[in-house]
Amino acid sequence: MVDLKDFTENYAPAPEGVEHVKLKDSYHLFINGEFQKPTSGKTMTTINPATEEKLAEVAFADEQDVNAAVKSARDAYTNIWSKLPQKERGKYIYRIARAIQERSREFAIIESLDGGKPIRESRDVDIPLAAAHFFYNAGWADKLEYAFPGRKANALGVAGQIIPWNFPLLMAAWKIAPALACGNTVVLKPAETTPLTALKLAELFQDIDLPPGVVNIVTGDGSTGSNLVSHPDVNKVAFTGSTAVGKSIKKTLAGTSKRYTLELGGKAAHIIFEDAALDQAVEGIVNGIFFNQGHVCCAGSRLYVQEGIQDELLAKLKSRMESLIIGDPLDKNTDIGAINSKNQLDKIQELTFSGKDQGGEIYQSDSCSLPEKGYWFHPTLITNVSQSHRVVQEEIFGPVLAIQSFRTVEEAIEKANNTPYGLSGGVWTDKGAKLFKITKKIRAGVMWANTFNKFDPASPFGGYKESGVGREGGLHGLYPYVELI
Ligand code: NAI
Ligand code: MG
Repeated sequence: MVDLKDFTENYAPAPEGVEHVKLKDSYHLFINGEFQKPTSGKTMTTINPATEEKLAEVAFADEQDVNAAVKSARDAYTNIWSKLPQKERGKYIYRIARAIQERSREFAIIESLDGGKPIRESRDVDIPLAAAHFFYNAGWADKLEYAFPGRKANALGVAGQIIPWNFPLLMAAWKIAPALACGNTVVLKPAETTPLTALKLAELFQDIDLPPGVVNIVTGDGSTGSNLVSHPDVNKVAFTGSTAVGKSIKKTLAGTSKRYTLELGGKAAHIIFEDAALDQAVEGIVNGIFFNQGHVCCAGSRLYVQEGIQDELLAKLKSRMESLIIGDPLDKNTDIGAINSKNQLDKIQELTFSGKDQGGEIYQSDSCSLPEKGYWFHPTLITNVSQSHRVVQEEIFGPVLAIQSFRTVEEAIEKANNTPYGLSGGVWTDKGAKLFKITKKIRAGVMWANTFNKFDPASPFGGYKESGVGREGGLHGLYPYVELI
């Protein structure tokens, strides 16, 4: 029999070359088509979480800078973008999509350097999907009368958009593409730990001659985001991030005329029935929770296995975990990269060990030794937990899977629905009727059947309950950016 441990330890490294990637030592704010110094002169540092090495200094935008960015977006809206024919706006969006494709290798490397995700994922998932979102929305730009038959779709004006660190360029694309396609202009606030691909996108906007002010990018922290949310001249707020911040944004916006969409956390249930194809299900489970270090709002972080197959499935899952390669995000063999930040690592550790304190049993694969520098966490299973345990209820946003069993379809549905979240879920069974029955009864915005973590720009995405408000992607994703008359 092949010794999997031996196999993972002796794999020849295949690191991606970084020679051609150009990063500046410091980045300013992108306002009115130009890089401008922040008024306060304050900066922040972004590091590579796999090595803890500094990558660049990045400007910190305070209230005055946010005001300047919103003014630039308003002027561009009034004087340029709203006056362009729809099909001309569409051409710019197509140009952005094509330019991302042309520079995809550079974007993928920077995404992996700045955020710690494996190059295979940034190369095969993040960057192609970011381009796909621009292509998809470019297609709608001159067809809004078909998107909303019999209605006139007016733009809202200026969109203030705040994004997280788990899919930095992809989240920027999710937000910017529909806003522009519907005729709005944008101020975007990237996350503290992963600003670099958004700033590279700003350089790309200059290169393709996007009119100044149509998209502005302000880097900073939560206070920068908060200034953007409460700015009186912002017409629409789009936020992806933690439920706590989402709730505070909702409070700030209550009673104002601003539109908003909030894409918050998740605690997806992955349900495996006795009649499922088990080997495929194991791949789905691994992809669902270990993909992107579990830094995925729709990660399958709760596993429900039908009682009769629990032992067999767990044995297969543990064996598969032995062959996962953890380490250098730039190595093309790497399956699991670095945890995005020290803060996030602390949070994952705290929640995992709360699982142990509450009586759970922890299993971690030891297929690879972890690098000495940087932030890392072994893929982890927690068994012997119950519905009330924190690891079953709270979003962990790391490669940690809480496992329970069930006997009947009804029990699986009840357990799956028993969290404050409702973003996504997955079901594995051989029976189509069972799939339809169960997917209809689970309160989640996205349900995958016999697969997991599949995305397409034409599919709407969003949550029920504390997972958020509104939908992004697809035709549904255009609604939040228009006023229908
Ligand atoms: P966060 O919600 O604090 O940050 C997300 C973005 O919001 C960042 O750009 C941040 O600068 C900005 N922000 C922070 N406070 C703000 C405020 N008061 N007003 C406006 N913008 C604000 O998330 P954080 O601290 O990075 O992660 C904490 C937890 O949130 C994670 O452990 C995970 O559970 C969850 N999370 C969920 C995400 C999702 O995709 N739904 C993405 C990132 C984190
Ligand atoms: Mg970074």
